[in-house]
Order: sequence, then C-alpha cells, then structure tokens
Amino acid sequence: MLPEFFEFYNPTKVVYEDGVATDLKPELDIIGIKKYFIVSDHIINDLGLVDKVAGGLAEAGFEVTGKYLDVAQDARLNDVQTCADQIKASGAEGIISIGGGSVIDTAKAANILFSEGGNLVDDYSGAHTLTRPLKPHVVIPTTAGTGSEVTMIAVIYDEENKEKLAFADKFLLPNLAVLDPQMTISLPFKMTAATGMDALTHAIEAYVGTQAAPISDAFAVGAIELIMKNIVTATKNGEDVEARGAMQIASTMAGISFTHSMVGCVHGMAHATGGLYRVPHGVANGIFLPFGMEYNFEEIKEKLARLAPIMGEDISGLSEEEAARLAIAAVRKLSKQLNDLDALPLRLRDVGVPEDGLEAIAEGAINDGTSFYNPREMDEEDLLPFIQKAY
Ligand SMILES: [Fe+2]
Repeated sequence: MLPEFFEFYNPTKVVYEDGVATDLKPELDIIGIKKYFIVSDHIINDLGLVDKVAGGLAEAGFEVTGKYLDVAQDARLNDVQTCADQIKASGAEGIISIGGGSVIDTAKAANILFSEGGNLVDDYSGAHTLTRPLKPHVVIPTTAGTGSEVTMIAVIYDEENKEKLAFADKFLLPNLAVLDPQMTISLPFKMTAATGMDALTHAIEAYVGTQAAPISDAFAVGAIELIMKNIVTATKNGEDVEARGAMQIASTMAGISFTHSMVGCVHGMAHATGGLYRVPHGVANGIFLPFGMEYNFEEIKEKLARLAPIMGEDISGLSEEEAARLAIAAVRKLSKQLNDLDALPLRLRDVGVPEDGLEAIAEGAINDGTSFYNPREMDEEDLLPFIQKAY
C-alpha cells in the first residue's frame, strides 16, 4: 500500500572512491571556495587521517585555515560554540568534518553559528528553524554507521542541563559526503561491528516504520543487503577495502532512508540505555534489534517476510509468518557471528546494565521521540518483557 503523502529530499552529493579523501580537487572546485576549516577529534588526528586530508588539500591549492580537534565522544554544546568561534576567526569560507557522528554533528551545529550567528539553543533548537543555506560543509566519515553525512539531524549534548538537544533542518544536510574506504580501515573491530549494527538498525527501522515510503524503502533494502553481506568480513578483516567500502555505502544509504522515514523502538531503547548506563549507541542497537523486531512482529511481519530473502534466507514454501521469523533469525545469526569474534555483546548484563534498571529503560524508550514512529503503539508494560529478554 502506498503512503498518502511523502517527500524525498536528498541534495547531498555522494562520491565514493578508494583514496578519494586525499584527492578532492574536482569536487571542491565545483563548490567553488578555497578556504576550509577542519573539524575532527584527537583519535582521528592521531591516526594521521586529518593530516592525510589536509595534505591533499594543500597540494591541490586549498587553504586549511585552522583545525578544531577537541570533539569528545558526545558532541557537546560548549564545543560547538568554541568551534564556531574558531572557524569564524580563522577566515574560513567552509567546513570539512572528518570523523564519526559526534564530529559531524558538532560541525553541523557549529556551521549554524558560523553562518548565522546567534544563540544555538535559544534560536535554533528543534526543527526547521533555519531560513537559508549555511556555508559549505563537506563530510568525510571515518565510521560506517551514523549516516550523519546525509541526514538533516544534529544531536548535541548539553552538559549543564544533562540533556540531548536535537536540531533538524534541511539546511543541515551537508553539501558533499566523501566515502573513502581508506578512512575506515583503521576503525577498531569492535567499533566496526557496533557502528555497522547501528546502520543495520537504521535501515530496518526505517523500512518497517510508520513513515516508510517507496523511495526510502529502496535505500533501506539496499543498505540491509550490503550490511548482511559485509559486516562480518569488515569486522574480521579491517583491511578488506571491498568490505569497508560496502559498509560505508550501506551506512550512507541507511542514513538516507532514516532521515526520511525515521527510526523506532530499538533506537528508543538504545537512547535510554545510552543515557542511563553509557552503553555505546551501536552496541545498544545491536543488542535490542532482534527484540525490537519481535515487539513489533504483528505490525511488521509482511515487511519482515520481504526482508528475509534479502538477508540471504531461503523462504521457498514458507508462510508469511515463517518467512518473517527467518528475518529475525538472520539478525540473530549475524549478531552471534559478531559475538563469536568478540566484537559485539548480545546481552544487557554484559554491558553493565543492572537488572533493576530495566524498567527505567522501558520508561525512557516510551518517552523517546522515536516512539512516535514505531509501528506498534509503545506501552511500557508491553515493552518491558522484551527488555528483560535482552538482559
Ligand atoms: Fe542510530
């Protein structure tokens, strides 16, 4: 059945090539500015990835006006202000962010202040507060998971008030996403697995969610197929350029699908678990994904049945319900393979969540913004048994 209404807006240009991050001249010439400020973090910098990109820029006649490398594990409000001040003072005309979700989101938010000035929280919190394009922002992801290079969302942590602030605006969509497998080769295997499971969760939740639509479905399905085929290889053999590239492309495709069709209860539970017990986002999603699929089963079984063959399962002769169960089994099989590599925990008890903390996760998930898009109406009492199973 077709949705009554949907819109699809995906203006971010995506380029993919092994080594392209050090050879950006053709793309940057199209954008047309010469002076870029780099936003990244110390881990990425210590790996030499910032120098690699900066070297390529200098060789091609572009100026790096400065670098902000202090982005923390969470994108923090104070960092956004400092970063924006440094960008402005440096005389830059645009931003290149090199990193994972926190770096990209910090750069997105800093670009608001750099381009428009004002107060980030007072003037721009929430959705659709911008009125015109921001300064050019080029993103070079170094993980394959968040999809932030193609989403209109930035999530920033307000340390003083201990809350996560969301900014959603079409003008936050970067101008260019640069997918270069060389930028993810050094990603540790546990992070490869966790961020990959985040991307898989984006694609599955977007595909089965209430906002799903044919165009975003196509991106979701493409992402799911690539992730199922490549996440184990990319985790096991980080140097495998083909698997790394496939995971990057899949993560971007999943990003395109969920920035249009949103995510649901798995992300709700992961957000709550991350906020309460500091469990990394991808790890929490990896743990909750099969249980979330089970929670929604009645509402999504038709779509799950369609996913099963895409996930490599043979559904010949099976009923819709049996095929749908196979899709969940396929996710469990994958998680188990990653667990066997010591790359992904399977249970909440293994990541420091206390048994008496499960109700708080259920409560947090219900109150999370994602609950609005979940295919099954979210109810704390109904959800709790699934969280207990994940324990
Ligand atoms: Fe996510």
